[in-house]
Amino acid sequence: MPFLGAFHGLFASNMAYLRPNYTILASMSTGSDSFKDIVAHSKEYGYVFPSSEIYDGLGAVYDYGPYGSELKKNIRDYWWKAMVHANDDVVGLDSAIFMNPRTWKASGHVDNFNDPLIDNKDSKKRYRADVLIEEHIEKYRLKIEKDVEKGRVKFGDSFDESQFRATNVNVLRNKAKITEIETQFEACMSTGNLSGVKKLIEDLEIVCPESGTKNWTDVRQFNLMFSTQMGSVADDSGLIYLRPETAQGIFVNFLNVQKSSRRKVPFGIAQTGKAFRNEIVARQFLFRMKEFEQMEMQFFVRPGTEMEWYQHWKQKRMNWHLSLGTRPDKYRFHDHINLAHYANAAVDIEFDFPIGFKEVEGIHSRTDFDLRRHEAESGRKLRYFDPEISESYIPYVVETSLGLDRMFLLLLSDAFCTENLHQEGQDSERTVLKLAPIVAPIKLAILPLVKKDGLAEMAEKVFDDLRFDFSCQYDDKDAIGRRYRRQDAIGTPFCITIDYESLRDESVTLRYRDSMEQRRIKLAALKENIQEELNVAKMLRSI
Ligand code: GAP
Repeated sequence: MPFLGAFHGLFASNMAYLRPNYTILASMSTGSDSFKDIVAHSKEYGYVFPSSEIYDGLGAVYDYGPYGSELKKNIRDYWWKAMVHANDDVVGLDSAIFMNPRTWKASGHVDNFNDPLIDNKDSKKRYRADVLIEEHIEKYRLKIEKDVEKGRVKFGDSFDESQFRATNVNVLRNKAKITEIETQFEACMSTGNLSGVKKLIEDLEIVCPESGTKNWTDVRQFNLMFSTQMGSVADDSGLIYLRPETAQGIFVNFLNVQKSSRRKVPFGIAQTGKAFRNEIVARQFLFRMKEFEQMEMQFFVRPGTEMEWYQHWKQKRMNWHLSLGTRPDKYRFHDHINLAHYANAAVDIEFDFPIGFKEVEGIHSRTDFDLRRHEAESGRKLRYFDPEISESYIPYVVETSLGLDRMFLLLLSDAFCTENLHQEGQDSERTVLKLAPIVAPIKLAILPLVKKDGLAEMAEKVFDDLRFDFSCQYDDKDAIGRRYRRQDAIGTPFCITIDYESLRDESVTLRYRDSMEQRRIKLAALKENIQEELNVAKMLRSI
């Protein structure tokens, strides 16, 4: 059962309830145009900057600022704890980005890791043919959703959505159109019929978003791997690739890890690290980057047992996502119908980003494809002798593959909201990042009500007492209300205010970011209570 209450535990003792200062009139989280707001907020508050911005940036490459780097590290740490520390059958690895180029021949990336690209001759812009077609299909999906909404309004309480979707003439017509396009596209791709893909784009009358024309080049396959030269020889002998996934570092180390850590199959190897893909992208922020980070795990199993493990990891990975307090209705599984030739099951965990439902993590049952290919290419045996059945075999693999940057974007999308507030006859607005405390960059802000009369000194002492236990921030600038807003905007879950009463009775006000409730708590009980709120063990046990 996923743990959903990460931030809802209330301090049971040592506290007196004060008052909720504000009434929240309306809370607006990710809406259709909030993507732009999230990008702007990320920059303004030091989460994400465009890379080398003073030179006008570099497409689809980003830098993480002071809060962004903390959030990213916290997500990575939480994943590592959940995958490596919490599972005694999973061990860690940190393999190099550069690998012998034969690795990528064996894995199929040299020959098959391609995107079908098409150029518009007027705008000179390059697009992924599959994305152009997918965006065209999305228009039919939107039409379906509009019709469903109309039905909802028309029929009111008696509206039966699933029946409407199954019977309404307009919905069925648009669904049929989607299936027809998808079938045609898949037929072209599976037979390498690139002129068929071009014809489909022309038949659908897809225009270039820049020039508005249908003046297209032929479709060509474009390999996504970045290559560079190793050593001083300028011919092809030094050609190497920047890894496009971390998984191959795990496969080639399978026996090293199994033997050195004395593991028996089934067991898993997990690693996090950078991956690089020469993606052709348009304004998708962290969703599709050229340099990004993956958190992957390959779980090696006895052939024939892979479906059990696939189901096991499918559920476990979803539980991990939900343990972060993200909204369950924003998630869905998307089972692959058309499987890659090496997979016998595959599912995406999708999230409802402001740009629609999109993949954040993949879980794949990859059979023995990768190890078998590496065995053939390297000439080295990659087999495991299973003492329980006295047999030697190439293990099957269940993979879980999560993009760290995409997870970062997911958490920002889920957390970002603006709220209309009402307090003592006045309306105001705040922007708040409702991040789970465990991943929030700053856990605790320590704020003296005013700088004078010994309050700043006391606050500095509290800060000094706590800073090695939690990531804390001391702030004594501006009025207290403005300081709360600043902390809300960076997602700090708890604020401590030191006021005149604190001098008298060693108590402080503890303010909760999401409810804005304020409670009085004894200083002596503060550390223990915040520790309880950040209880990672409790979260991990719930997965
Ligand atoms: N080893 C399997 C693998 O790499 P994938 O579906 O290509 O599978 C796994 O990638 C995950 O990596 C994706 O679900 C996504 O979260 C992340 N990812 C892939 N390409 C990305 C990109 N260009 N930018 C950001 N994240 C990406």
